[in-house]
Amino acid sequence: MSSAQIRGPRRITVVGTGTGIGKTHVGVALVSALAARGCRVCGMKPIESGVTEGVRTDGVQLAEVSAVPPGRAPFGFEPPVSPHLAARQAGVDIALGAVKSWVEAQEAEVQVVETAGALLSPLGARTTNLDLTRALQGQGLVLVGVDRLGVLHEVAACRLALRVLAPELPAPVVVLNAPEVEDASTGSNAGELQVLGIAEVVVEMPRGDARGAGARAAAEAVLARLEGRGGKSVDGSAPGAGPLRFRRGSEG
Ligand SMILES: Nc1ncnc2c1ncn2[C@@H]1O[C@H](COP(=O)(O)OP(=O)(O)O)[C@@H](O)[C@H]1O
Ligand SMILES: [Mg+2]
Repeated sequence: MSSAQIRGPRRITVVGTGTGIGKTHVGVALVSALAARGCRVCGMKPIESGVTEGVRTDGVQLAEVSAVPPGRAPFGFEPPVSPHLAARQAGVDIALGAVKSWVEAQEAEVQVVETAGALLSPLGARTTNLDLTRALQGQGLVLVGVDRLGVLHEVAACRLALRVLAPELPAPVVVLNAPEVEDASTGSNAGELQVLGIAEVVVEMPRGDARGAGARAAAEAVLARLEGRGGKSVDGSAPGAGPLRFRRGSEG
């Protein structure tokens, strides 16, 4: 795919309602889908803790599916603690300018950047992933949450923070990731987010391999929305056929 053929964002930032909620899973699905299209995509994680020999870090997982693998991340820390703590222990300041410069130096047609932790997780004193997201100026924003009880508040809180603190950023495409263990709300949250006016665009990510068919369909639905197309919803309803409809993922 040549640059001229890329209609969508050149940089997609992936943020989350929490940690361990599926950001890497969604990032890998997005990068895989773009790579399968022939796009020179690079998936990266500029700030990561728990980086130890032999560990399949988020950065490694994103690099594995990238058409253009990233260079060594600028802020990789060994202790498996919050990056702000790991940085403090190492006597390092996670400077947003340095993160941005490194991301910009990764040559690719499309960049997918995973943030570390949740949207408001600290990177240092008075600095959070929201500040990093602003600094990165991505044309695409993906907010990942889990399809379980509590997610309506979590997405509402993130959207409020984004609206107030980062009004210049595009509205996020919300990805609701299917939980390992369902609760009574699982399956209804995507519709509720829209009916209640908490999120305009919601895509459901099924359980299963991040490079499998279900994840690919969800990733394509996310990309279609980021590209400004109606696209197909995860249930395969036609482009432009009104609001996205939702169905539980069938994979895995
Ligand atoms: N949709 C899914 N299907 C199967 N496993 C998943 C899914 N989403 C996340 N996981 C698994 O859950 C764990 C946490 O997800 P991950 O993407 O690493 O979260 P985060 O990047 O937000 O910390 C990982 O082991 C991941 O493989
Ligand atoms: Mg991750």
